Amino acid sequence: MLTSESMLSRGTHTGRRIPNPLEELTLTELRQRTSMKWRVHPEDVLPLWVAEMDVRLAPAVAEALHRAIDAGDTGYPVGTAYAEAFSAFAADRWSWSNLEVSRTAIVPDVMMGVVEVLRLVTSPGDAVVVNSPVYAPFYAFVTHDGRQIVEAPLGQDLRVSLDSLEESFLRIRQQGRKAAYLLSNPHNPTGTVHTMAELTAVAELAGKYDVRVVSDEIHAPLVLPGAQFIPYLSVPGSENAFAVMSASKAWNLAGLKAALAVAGPDAAADLARMPEEVSHGPSHLGLIAHTAALRDGQDWLNALIQGLDSNRTLLRQLLAKHLPEAGYKEPEGTYLAWLDCRYLESESQDSPSGLGVVTDVAGPTKMFLEEARVALSSGHVFGSGGAGHVRLNFATSQAILTEAIERMGRVHPLR
Ligand SMILES: Cc1ncc(COP(=O)(O)O)c(C=O)c1O
Repeated sequence: MLTSESMLSRGTHTGRRIPNPLEELTLTELRQRTSMKWRVHPEDVLPLWVAEMDVRLAPAVAEALHRAIDAGDTGYPVGTAYAEAFSAFAADRWSWSNLEVSRTAIVPDVMMGVVEVLRLVTSPGDAVVVNSPVYAPFYAFVTHDGRQIVEAPLGQDLRVSLDSLEESFLRIRQQGRKAAYLLSNPHNPTGTVHTMAELTAVAELAGKYDVRVVSDEIHAPLVLPGAQFIPYLSVPGSENAFAVMSASKAWNLAGLKAALAVAGPDAAADLARMPEEVSHGPSHLGLIAHTAALRDGQDWLNALIQGLDSNRTLLRQLLAKHLPEAGYKEPEGTYLAWLDCRYLESESQDSPSGLGVVTDVAGPTKMFLEEARVALSSGHVFGSGGAGHVRLNFATSQAILTEAIERMGRVHPLR
């Protein structure tokens, strides 16, 4: 039987004591939820897949929403409060004082913002470079919009490979095509936090090959102790780039849609061409929630990050004990762990070619679901290099995390 115990941790912004947000809800309470994470699988499955967190709302966010609902303040949004809150948060948290409110646009969510920004600087048939394995919707959203994905795989160390990036840029330009580069900063699913040196080199390459960069910074507030988030637009050479950001991942607001597209100084004219209807997507309550999170939610965020850091440590210990065969490099940010589970890969009995074995790309995820009753995200949907891996969401209680890894450890290779 899983229970959650309440642990206290210290938020560092105002020094207010905030309980660890990951230890507040019991499994029984979580099972009452109606969101995707808790509804797709049967009740005996522990869901550690989609990027939702097992937390209550930060009090600052809940209070702002309650105030709006009590007042019937549910009309259309207006104004720049969200951009102002982001600008202040960025200055305080990342010492980035150049998030200019005049160079922002509200967009419904980060993925729609990415699509709309790509529409401003590319045309159907143009290339969009991504670092595989990467957040699966990058593929679907970009190709649905008529752009073509070109993969520049991450290096063995799970960091952006400047060689593979340059090779992709060069190849596309030699074909006479235009390119944009969609960067996940930090990187989902590996949790890699790009350094200033890496991002500076990226900006140099983008300048050299005339590639417009769109930096998805949805995980930016979730950088864990030991790493430092670098906003792409703070990097020299990024002046004609864009960033798309929101409070959605860090404060668990995916159901309250509102995000921000930000242009570098030389991209402001492009951003100004964004069609007006895009700004009709974010909801007023979404903007209220995200604004409150950024403005008044730093103590809660600090407590969350402490909780995630503890879970990261616990996960390392649990993996060493129960899944020592899994390949694992600790994430520097996000609440996602990327596990190489190729030791579990089975060989399909029914090879369509009849010529031998076919690896079942979703094999480990299927085995963990069917045999351990733990739901994870299958690595193969993240593109080349993802097959045989699973992505595990550790934004949950230590009790749930422990039970999940213990169960996973009891799954053994077939051969
Ligand atoms: C890198 C990345 N971008 C975008 C999203 C989705 O953001 P939104 O729901 O705002 O479209 C996610 C969700 O997990 C993500 O990890």
